[in-house]
Amino acid sequence: MGHFYGHGRNHLFVPGPTNIPEEVIRAMNRNNENHRSPVITALTKTLLDDIKKIFKTTSGIPFLIPTTGTGAWESALTNTCSPGDRIVSFLIGQFSFLWIEQQKQLNFNVDVVESEWGQGADLDILASKIASDKTHTIKALCIVHNETTTGVTNDLTKVRKILDEFNHPALVIVDAVSSIGALDFRMDEWGVDVVVTSSQKALSLPTGMGIVCAGPKAIEASKSAKSLRAFFNWNGYLKCYKSETYWPYTPSIHLLYGLRAALDLIFEEGYENVILRHNRLAKATRLAVEAWGLKNCCQKEECYSASVTAVVVPPNIDSGEIVIKAWKKYNLSLGVGLNKVAGKVFRIGHIGHLNELQLLGCLAGVEMTLKDVGYPVKLGSGVAAASAYLQNNTPFIPSRI
Ligand SMILES: Cc1ncc(COP(=O)(O)O)c(C=O)c1O
Repeated sequence: MGHFYGHGRNHLFVPGPTNIPEEVIRAMNRNNENHRSPVITALTKTLLDDIKKIFKTTSGIPFLIPTTGTGAWESALTNTCSPGDRIVSFLIGQFSFLWIEQQKQLNFNVDVVESEWGQGADLDILASKIASDKTHTIKALCIVHNETTTGVTNDLTKVRKILDEFNHPALVIVDAVSSIGALDFRMDEWGVDVVVTSSQKALSLPTGMGIVCAGPKAIEASKSAKSLRAFFNWNGYLKCYKSETYWPYTPSIHLLYGLRAALDLIFEEGYENVILRHNRLAKATRLAVEAWGLKNCCQKEECYSASVTAVVVPPNIDSGEIVIKAWKKYNLSLGVGLNKVAGKVFRIGHIGHLNELQLLGCLAGVEMTLKDVGYPVKLGSGVAAASAYLQNNTPFIPSRI
């Protein structure tokens, strides 16, 4: 096609799809195989066992579905809820908005709790709704753990606390699309009933695998839920799990090998180290944003996201111009502002297969682009703030100690 990709590598700093490690690319560089062979059966078994470690669950049942995060949402909803069910859903950004739209299309009775974009889910309103719901009309809560639009992370322990306080049986359904594999996530400890994620985020795989993990209460609910579902019916998977054939339809062989390699890398680095790395890169990014004199779209420190930072630009600057200039001139891919914050924020995704020096390259590119669009930034200011922090806080690579 004669498409010139630029010298060196593209600095991919969107909050998904993310950079794919060479090991994962190599693991996927292979022919197709019979998905009914003992080799794929054995591989699948290891994946189902190991993915549970990423969700921190022993009682949850994972489904690796050929879909995206949007399909994983639908799988979670249609297997657990019935048309007309009251669902409390928090609207805090574009992804919670899209999920709510899907909930409405699936004919649930969606009770939307809206917050200003940049704020977390309003859990005071949740508490009052739960307190007054004596007859348990609320069947489920839908909450996005990490809202990728605004870089806001919700504290799920508080959600569980509210439900427990009132002994309320509502299912907790969580979108962890931009958090699983990057942020600490404890499905069992936090009492989450269904968690969804997708392959192209922190797991650093190509798009195409939606991952749903269902706890015992959700599996029980799936037996009586009346929503229409066919492709996404968990029953198909559960039957295949029983007979150890695993696949109700053809999986992407390549993504299975890719997931194996991705999980191996996570465990080699140490899952807790992966989470610490994400925290470190996020903190360094925030220090750079502060040094540039710009604001974080996330308005509360306790909600700062470890996987994405949305940076608010001054009103005279269009953030879309920053994103396109950074790509055209510096081969740096940043995330655009979406919906309500279009033109107002750009996003730095520090999620997945990234390290400190890559981040500094990204921050240098952002600084130069800010100058390009007329923002009076001192070149090097953000990089200096971030590198001072990283120099003090970056540990040795675990395998090189
Ligand atoms: C938090 C969140 N949920 C859901 C989605 C939708 O996932 P997908 O694009 O894989 O359907 C995204 C995508 O960016 C996301 O960030």
